[in-house]
Amino acid sequence: MNIDQPLTLLGGLTPTQFMKRHWHKKPLLVRQAIPDFKPCVDRSAMVALAGQEGVESRLIVGSDKGWKMKHGPLAKRSLPPFNQKNWTFLVQGVDMHHDGVHALMQQFRFVPDARLDDVMISYATDGGGVGPHFDSYDVFLLQAHGQRRWRIARQKDLSLQPGVPLKILQNFEHEEEFVLNPGDMLYLPPKYAHDGAAEGECMTWSIGFRSPKQGELARELLLGLADEAPEGVGEAVYRDPAQSAVAQPGAIPAELAAFARESLQKALKDPHLLSSLLGEHLTEPKANVWFDLAEHASDLSVGVVLDRRTRMMYDERSIFVNGESFRVGGKDAALLRALADTRTLNAHQIKALSADALAALDEWQADGWLKTL
Ligand code: SIN
Ligand code: CO
Repeated sequence: MNIDQPLTLLGGLTPTQFMKRHWHKKPLLVRQAIPDFKPCVDRSAMVALAGQEGVESRLIVGSDKGWKMKHGPLAKRSLPPFNQKNWTFLVQGVDMHHDGVHALMQQFRFVPDARLDDVMISYATDGGGVGPHFDSYDVFLLQAHGQRRWRIARQKDLSLQPGVPLKILQNFEHEEEFVLNPGDMLYLPPKYAHDGAAEGECMTWSIGFRSPKQGELARELLLGLADEAPEGVGEAVYRDPAQSAVAQPGAIPAELAAFARESLQKALKDPHLLSSLLGEHLTEPKANVWFDLAEHASDLSVGVVLDRRTRMMYDERSIFVNGESFRVGGKDAALLRALADTRTLNAHQIKALSADALAALDEWQADGWLKTL
């Protein structure tokens, strides 16, 4: 993607300008971000998805008595009638299920893949919505069908109503208000208060991002380090030839505590190991993602395209695909990085790969991670 080319998607801003002026900073409303947008997911496709095991969905019904929420799978018969007002259901990760939704998400790849999360789609009847709330992540709210009235506020007071099954702001006072039509899009930075209410039947696509919490990332990396530690840190045995006789045998010797600290420092010493664990973690498919094994081996020489579910990234030393890492160098590294960036390799590029890299691609094809063009 040319990051210095003005995009209709961003209201005529270039990706570079958008990231500088808006990302994490201030909202952007784009009228007709996608002119003549014809969503490829309709109400019945949404109902079918929400009913599936392994697809994350939730139903939210508002009434005078308050909010009710139910997690999926949602059987069609468990949904309120479509002529009843004030309800909505939301399906997470629709890009994993529909090539068209996945294709739309590619337009947002001026943000690193490591940050892009998924496309969530909501269906709502008149008045339906999830109430005034904030999200911890950036979001692009693309109107797909019907109209939605967005009220937004930069407010600092993010206290939530107690005893409600979803996150609802206690004191929401909107500063701006827009009605979005199909193809219109609203970008909101993290923690920006917002409330979207359907005006008639409405579908909204949310292009969402993920921001790891530092503690969770530490946990993931430490889990990986734990597997590597016995070999990486080594077999050194604690010795204490200078230990004197003790009158307080319950006290842990300071030398033993230092030995333990040193073992952790050794485990963390290898920067390459940390990078590999990070790449593997970032490309790990979500728990509910399954690949369809290839029925037969295909001749990859015509070119390949990554399956929409495949996550592929790289750093200076390695390529990471769906939670696995591969050390590569030279021409292979350049070509496999191109595969991660463009999600495709043409026949000419395939021809330039080494036998080892081709063997890896054959395996990825068998695992359903990529297909022939
Ligand atoms: C919705 O589509 O109803 C909710 C999206 C959001 O507010 O993040
Ligand atoms: Co939100």
